Amino acid sequence: MKITKEPFGVTEDGKEVFQFRLENNAGASVTLMNYGCTITSILVPDREGRLTDICLGYRTLAEYEKNDGYLGAVVGRHANRIEKGVFVLNGKEYRLAVNNGPNHLHGGLRGFDKRVWEYTVEDGRLVFGRRSPDGEEGYPGNLDVSMSYQLTDDNELILRYEAETDADTVVNLTNHCYFNLSGEGKGTILHHVLQIPAARFTENDEHCLPTGKILEVDSTPFDFRQPKEVGRDIHADCVQLKNGLGYDHNFILDGVEKENTAAVLYAPDTGIAMTISTTMPGVQFYSGNVLDGPVGKSGVAYEKNMGLCLETQYFPNALRCTNFPSPVLKKGERYDHMTKLCFAVKD
Ligand code: BGC
Repeated sequence: MKITKEPFGVTEDGKEVFQFRLENNAGASVTLMNYGCTITSILVPDREGRLTDICLGYRTLAEYEKNDGYLGAVVGRHANRIEKGVFVLNGKEYRLAVNNGPNHLHGGLRGFDKRVWEYTVEDGRLVFGRRSPDGEEGYPGNLDVSMSYQLTDDNELILRYEAETDADTVVNLTNHCYFNLSGEGKGTILHHVLQIPAARFTENDEHCLPTGKILEVDSTPFDFRQPKEVGRDIHADCVQLKNGLGYDHNFILDGVEKENTAAVLYAPDTGIAMTISTTMPGVQFYSGNVLDGPVGKSGVAYEKNMGLCLETQYFPNALRCTNFPSPVLKKGERYDHMTKLCFAVKD
């Protein structure tokens, strides 16, 4: 894999940001920047061999700083929602920013997506790192985080998330890429075919916050166990879809700490297919419901459903729903998770 680097811009507070290009021997490439460890493009061949950018993004750093859709970024310290921004750890109450209705979302007002990271290249992998200091956005413990990206010659993009803390804390890291396998800016994802091998998902309240209840997908619009068009049931008369304005739910993957298939996505027009596997216990399928028209890198406005996210994660609100796997990272433990995106074409 070849890795090159070029300047991308300077943040509002004067920090230099670089864009890195990972390129494999098959001609595929991924660009990333050290602002938010953000994936800014993913170019993979379609069934005619044409390179297609399947990831939403902006042209300039200023647009990434200004907009709040988390396009392509890493989200943390805790991805997704925590009820009322309050949790108790080791008997002590922590109060976080309430930045999404009544709840805390994606690490707070200035989460990991809005930070400039250190970078290095190690064993053919691009590695971003930073220390999230004790108290940052209200979270306890100095957390040393490392995020690495590797593009193999088999068109696999491997994301590895590692972290260590000097005091007990919570960690739930994911990547917030919006995919459109027809090509960025090329219409909605409603005709994509999606498979999620999950028999259960977590129930949301009207603010997209898990209530703690676990629902079966069987005989509901949430049954993606067999490949299904994303748009087939999206407008069904279903409280869960109304709560999310579409799909915005955590699906429960079987087995923790081993490599699970989280999703298989396919666009019939380009033939591009993506398989996601992960060590995480859940995946948030978000169908881009509140995309509200920011202009993307090819000049097209990103409207509702023009991209979808598949965010591998600990279940949202697990700090309040104690029946969910715990995102607590104790001092002396190591957070070590992997998510792999594998690209291919189908006839
Ligand atoms: C959340 C959505 C939210 C989106 C963009 C997703 O991870 O689940 O509710 O609107 O991120 O912030």
